[in-house]
This record gives sequence, structure tokens and C-alpha cells, in this order.
Amino acid sequence: MRLVDNPMTDGFHEDRITWEKIWINRKVVPRKSRHETMIASDGFDSLPNLTSELHFYRVAMQFANTLPLNKFESIYEVGCGSGAFLYPLYCEYGCRVGGVDLSPELVELANQTMRDGKFSVGDAIVLDTKERYDHVFAHSVLQYFVPSVTEQVLVNMVLKSNLTVSVLDIPNQLFLLEQEQLRERRLGQDNYRERYRSLKHTYYSKSFFRDFAERNNLHITEFNSSVGDLPEDYRFGVIMRKSDRI
Ligand SMILES: C[S@@+](CC[C@H](N)C(=O)[O-])C[C@H]1O[C@@H](n2cnc3c(N)ncnc32)[C@H](O)[C@@H]1O
Repeated sequence: MRLVDNPMTDGFHEDRITWEKIWINRKVVPRKSRHETMIASDGFDSLPNLTSELHFYRVAMQFANTLPLNKFESIYEVGCGSGAFLYPLYCEYGCRVGGVDLSPELVELANQTMRDGKFSVGDAIVLDTKERYDHVFAHSVLQYFVPSVTEQVLVNMVLKSNLTVSVLDIPNQLFLLEQEQLRERRLGQDNYRERYRSLKHTYYSKSFFRDFAERNNLHITEFNSSVGDLPEDYRFGVIMRKSDRI
């Protein structure tokens, strides 16, 4: 893991809370159904209401239709958590699935739930690109990276993919203030400041991905899509296709 291996950060920031530490230590949050447990464990329990199974199912199916995904293809998620987003695709398509995540507990739940999937503990910045999948994506993850890390993670995803690289639920820089105010209101101001003093979300412009796609000869499709009850244009998604496979 970067933080643990890095002498510049290890020790010096021993007491400082980081997203990385939070996710490495993330535990399974039991709920009444298997999918609800996955949704809550993956962090979608910090909104006033748990994001519903139906919502996850709809957004995942919309994504699969747009790719389009078929049952003979394979799909891999970077920052998969316990696989709450991947699970509906696994159930509906029965295609080969895999993923990587920082949290050992979440990865274990993914392996228990999608038994013929291949989920491992690891850091997206050092993604194993030897075994390739047709579609490689990340859902609700890039807010935890600084842009230079995102750039490297995207390069890794391109190397791992045969056909497409997608990023979903990206916080839109145009609505930074509104989203920060919403987070503040939801958590209660004092509690918010205490918990998140050193923890920031990274917001992106659509041009960040357009430029990446252009530099890497990928065809990009953009759309607005938000998880949970956020207004749809607060977050967006991109699908980038390898040009030689269109
Ligand atoms: C909000 S959760 C989303 C989980 C999953 N993608 C989903 O939609 O259900 C963010 C996930 O990103 C993972 N993550 C954060 N930084 C990571 C990194 N550097 N490498 C791998 N996973 C990471 C966390 O462990 C966490 O499971």
C-alpha cells in the first residue's frame, strides 16, 4: 500500500486520518439483505437513507446497456469494495467478473458473494495489468485520489482493458460548492469539520477526461449520473473506448 510503504508519509503523519486509512480499515456493515449489506459496507450508508438496491440495479443496468455488455465478455472494477455495483451485472449477465480494493473485509465479502469472481486486496495505483478484462471501470472512487494519482490509475485501467475504460459517479467541479454544502448539512457542521478536517474530495471537470482520452487515442462518451439522491448533474460518468476496437 502506498501510505504504508512510503517513508515520506509513514510515521510522519502517523496520527493523521486519510481516506486510505479509512478504507483499508473499512468493515462490513450488516443489513437485512446481502445486497443491502454490500451497499452499506461500500459507504452508501452515510446519506440520510441507504441508497436502495433498486437504485444500484437501475444505474448498473443503464451502464451495461450503454457499454454494451454481453454475457461472453468480462468486466473488472477498480475500487470495487464488496462489489455492490458489480453484483447486479454478475447476477444478470453471468459474465466473468473481478476487482481490486484496499479493504480486506470488503474484498472477502465480494469473493463470498460472487464465488466464481476474482477479487483481490490491492492499490489501484499499482494495478496488476497482466490479466486483462474486456471492460474495466471504477464507480465512486476518484474523489479519493489527487488528480496525478487519477491519471496513473486511468493509465493502468487502459492497460488492463481490451475494449472500454469507464469511470462513474465522478464529482463535477461545476457543483463543488453545492456538494460541499450538502455534505456539511448532512453530517452536521461541527461533526463534519471534526471528521473531515483533513479529508477532502477531489472534484473534476469533464475536460480532464476529454484530454486524457485524446492523449490516449480513446473515444469518449459523457453522461450525467449520480448515486443516491444527489441531483443528477452533480456527478458524471465517462466511457472511453479503445479506438482500434470500434
Ligand atoms: C465509495 S466506495 C465504492 C465501492 C464500489 N465501487 C461501489 O460502487 O460499491 C470507494 C471504494 O474505493 C476504494 N478505494 C479507495 N482508494 C483506493 C485505492 N487506492 N485502491 C483501491 N481501492 C481504493 C475503497 O476501499 C472503497 O471500497
